[in-house]
Amino acid sequence: MDRKLVILGAQWGDEGKGKIVDLLSENYDVTVRYQGGSNAGHTVIANGEKFILHLLPTGILHNHVVGVIAQGMVVDLDVLDRELEGLREKGIGYEGRLLVSDRAHLVMPYHKLLDRLFEKKSGIGTTLRGIGPAYMFKFGRKGIRLADLDDERRLYSLIEENVAFVKDICEKVFCENHDLDAGRIFEETLEKYSKYRGLVRDVSQYLLRTDKTLLFEGAQGTMLDVDMGTYPYVTSSNSSALGLSNGTGLSPKFFSDAYFVGVAKAYTTRVGGGPFPTELEGEEGKRLRDLGGEYGSTTGRPRRCGWLDLVALKYAVELNHFDGIILTKLDVLDTFDEIKVCVAYDYEGERLEHFPASLKVLESSRPVYETLRGWKRSTKGAKELKELPQGAKDYIRFIEEFTGVPVIMLSTGPRREEFVWLRELPQIKVSSL
Ligand code: GDP
Ligand code: IMO
Ligand code: MG
Repeated sequence: MDRKLVILGAQWGDEGKGKIVDLLSENYDVTVRYQGGSNAGHTVIANGEKFILHLLPTGILHNHVVGVIAQGMVVDLDVLDRELEGLREKGIGYEGRLLVSDRAHLVMPYHKLLDRLFEKKSGIGTTLRGIGPAYMFKFGRKGIRLADLDDERRLYSLIEENVAFVKDICEKVFCENHDLDAGRIFEETLEKYSKYRGLVRDVSQYLLRTDKTLLFEGAQGTMLDVDMGTYPYVTSSNSSALGLSNGTGLSPKFFSDAYFVGVAKAYTTRVGGGPFPTELEGEEGKRLRDLGGEYGSTTGRPRRCGWLDLVALKYAVELNHFDGIILTKLDVLDTFDEIKVCVAYDYEGERLEHFPASLKVLESSRPVYETLRGWKRSTKGAKELKELPQGAKDYIRFIEEFTGVPVIMLSTGPRREEFVWLRELPQIKVSSL
């Protein structure tokens, strides 16, 4: 029951997964990233130092943890190189404790170029990390996997074919000429790969056979899932629980004994385009952004902010079968007189209680709010339940009752030690209940 823990974003990303994964990695042997790529930005503040991890599993910051980049990820070798260099500079060795799947696909320079070009027309507001095009190539059967890098002839012909295809798109669709040289890309790819060849292996086999404790670290969030999120304003992978099996190459049955936790902010943010029913565009939105420091960890863009959307959160709870929620950034609400929570949508006079698929419905839906009284006391840095004001406890209870699952932990600040356990996790000894 307690050997596998899955941590997923329950909203539109940036819920504070990095902080939570870092904290809980203390109790796990292995941390696995299995979807997305360097579009993620997972922030950890530990021992006074700030780390933002994009591609590497967050657990890698702990010396005892093995980090796994599983097959569902798309890997940018430049970012891998930069992040590992960053670890080396901070004196964190990763020798013998980082594994990269031979089935993972590469993000190539021309994917980043295409991301920029596509973005001119789509308005999705991607992170421009080449993620969408890399998955397009994967599913279009034009992708390059790490396993292909040892076969130089095959690699060259794949790159040559890709470059010709991309040049065609640039010229014929976007009327732009780009200097893409297959030979140079081939040489540069091999050079980068040669540094990290030793990390590459069949990680599905590793995960299947190991008896170590496993923490699976989702990136993005449920509402950005390519199938179940606010399509097309989503990322290009399954960032809900749906991505676990295809992202790791393991049967859904492998996860049947895992504990599933959703990380949710006490309010809502999203970055990039797309529907956001509880968005606050005026002063209140700015206040949340300022108090929460809501600027993207990957792109620095200001995040759109709004009240907690319980319709979306309940949808995420049901979709992922969450056993519990970890609530973050409650401290950001400390100074509000009143706090609103969205309990339904009003679509042209009709009350909707389930998150709809239709963009048209979402875009025209107005939030139906309940208003709760603010607690007007600092919860920042609280470590025990008894330090929380009654208003904050009521807010948490409201969320539990609405979603039907317990809030098992509260994060009370960005730093590693700022949290309160509210319930016991099977794997973890709880001292502060
Ligand atoms: P992730 O992508 O889900 O890992 O989240 P990000 O790292 O992109 O964004 C979360 C931000 O909130 C980071 O700057 C964290 O340092 C910060 N953070 C995390 N938990 C808390 C919390 O409980 N309170 C406050 N005030 N900040 C938090
Ligand atoms: P973490 O793991 C928040 C958003 C982008 C854009 C959409 C598609 O830090 O929570 P992409 O580059 O993936 O093609 O962009 O998805 N997005 C994120 N938003 N947090 C993230 O990751 C995100 N990764 C992608 O802003 O709207
Ligand atoms: Mg982030």
